[in-house]
Amino acid sequence: MCGIVGYIGEKSPKEVLYSGLSKLEYRGYDSAGISILGKEQEIQTYKSVGKLANLREVLKGVEVSGHIGIGHTRWATHGVPSTKNSHPHNSKSNKLSLVHNGIIENYAELREELVNKGYEFLSDTDTEVIVHLLDANFTGNLVESVFKILPILEGAYAIGVISSDEPDLLVAARKGSPLVIGLGENEKYIASDVPAILEYTNRVIFLEDGDVASLKQDEIKIWDLEKNEKSTEETEIEWDLEAAEKGGYEYFTLKEIHEQPRVIAETLKGKIKGNSAIIEEMTLTKEELENITKIHMVACGTSYHAALVGKAIIEQELRIPVEVEVASEFRYKNPIINKTDLVILISQSGETADTLAGLREAKKSGAKAIGIINVMGSTISREADGTIYTNAGLEIGVASTKAFIAQLIALYILTLYLGEKKNILDDKRRNYIVENLKKLPNMVEKVLDIEEDIKLKTRVLDSARSSMFIGRNMNTAIAYEGALKLKEISYIHAEGYQSGELKHGPIAMISEECPLIAIATKSDTYEKVKSNIEEVRARSGKILALATLGDEEISKISDEVIYLPEIDELFSPVINVVPLQFIAYYAAINRGLDVDKPRNLAKSVTVE
Ligand code: G6P
Repeated sequence: MCGIVGYIGEKSPKEVLYSGLSKLEYRGYDSAGISILGKEQEIQTYKSVGKLANLREVLKGVEVSGHIGIGHTRWATHGVPSTKNSHPHNSKSNKLSLVHNGIIENYAELREELVNKGYEFLSDTDTEVIVHLLDANFTGNLVESVFKILPILEGAYAIGVISSDEPDLLVAARKGSPLVIGLGENEKYIASDVPAILEYTNRVIFLEDGDVASLKQDEIKIWDLEKNEKSTEETEIEWDLEAAEKGGYEYFTLKEIHEQPRVIAETLKGKIKGNSAIIEEMTLTKEELENITKIHMVACGTSYHAALVGKAIIEQELRIPVEVEVASEFRYKNPIINKTDLVILISQSGETADTLAGLREAKKSGAKAIGIINVMGSTISREADGTIYTNAGLEIGVASTKAFIAQLIALYILTLYLGEKKNILDDKRRNYIVENLKKLPNMVEKVLDIEEDIKLKTRVLDSARSSMFIGRNMNTAIAYEGALKLKEISYIHAEGYQSGELKHGPIAMISEECPLIAIATKSDTYEKVKSNIEEVRARSGKILALATLGDEEISKISDEVIYLPEIDELFSPVINVVPLQFIAYYAAINRGLDVDKPRNLAKSVTVE
């Protein structure tokens, strides 16, 4: 959802900005641009449409000197992807240059006012109003001018701005969109997230909503919106740079699928002792935990599917009712939350605007809200009453894979935790859960071993225009997730359905060009799923089934079968999602697509 980066220091800003943008490209890749300013120079701005590689072409051979600059990679919200709409946006006099992530909701009225004052707009973006507004309010002092305009802006922003009047200063501000400051020796960075600057520094300051920062090579000042200066709290980041490299894989997505056994082990590490779950970050008191009678889960996209699996796990094991809602609905539906309910926000990035709004909505009701989050220090993790970190490491592929599996593991851990604290799960059951959790890395490894077989079987999708994924109970949401993954990266239309519901409408879609992918591993409803497959077979549909090793029956009624190691249905989502990730991956590869950067998407959606 747009990535921004900024630098002031002795290194070449062109190199630092380009390198930062290449790490942020997963947030948007419709267009990109940079502005650079030298001590005795004007602001120089370079832009290009499409992926970042195009900007590299534009910059090739261009001597861009200077010591301060800002850069942006765009995911279009207002205005089509084009050079004129790409950032940075500059004031008419070229004195100011600005990058923005977020949406200015009152941009139309601001634009009208500025046009009436004689400002000419060159783009269709909401961002351009900020730079003209800044120009209209410019006092000669950049920090002061930024303070003047921020209260006028409605909506969300993270901005970086430079001025040729003050060539030693980079100003940044955030409200609703993430922004982090990097600290180096006699140099400063800003970025939408840490990986963009990790190559240069692991010392960061996470800006809070409402913060304004003034950055000079050797000085940093941060204020809140009321201009109270704040003390700066530095964090040292542990992620290594290797995580941001492909490590021999063609795509990050494939690398991340392969990392899953390790991710499961990492997420479990330190959180299981004997048959107990330990969640150090959980700040709920014993009494608060005892009082929980209902759980709400709020999330978007793949994280929403993890929440649906979480509901199935918790309701089966703990008999505590769980309501799951997509965050964009939750925030506007005036949700019924009691003080004793527990609200769980699930988010890889911890920055998704709708999920963050869900957290704030939940907190208004007085209920406790905890996050299941991958990115340390992210806004949701900082604002929630507690966070279970998923330890998946940096996820770069836009389509989430390893972060999803880590979310599932966190949900088993939470189930175990609540089950013990609320005296619902006895020792025997907890032993059983822990034993199975520990088996998972090895079992996922076994699925990775059959990658070639899965790749071959993905050929059922070669001539597909659409596809249907079915699953039941624990695996319903895995069918949804399989369909989402396929849509996201291969652009083959896909729908995920509850197996039993297929006959009530979607079966009409089944044809030569719309194969069925059925999750038919051993479960309490196995026989029912088999009947659902038969119904499709009777209508000459092509079938690819996921089945449990040794199941001969399924091969008689399916065109292709992917055999998976046997596990209790409760844990089967962790195993079953892996072949579906491979299917999506190879379907995209077979169509010659860029798996890591699917069209129209962004990894982290920090606007509504
Ligand atoms: C975007 C991504 C999805 C992701 C969703 C939620 O739409 O493209 O892959 O699942 O956001 O992201 P989160 O970071 O909150 O899990």
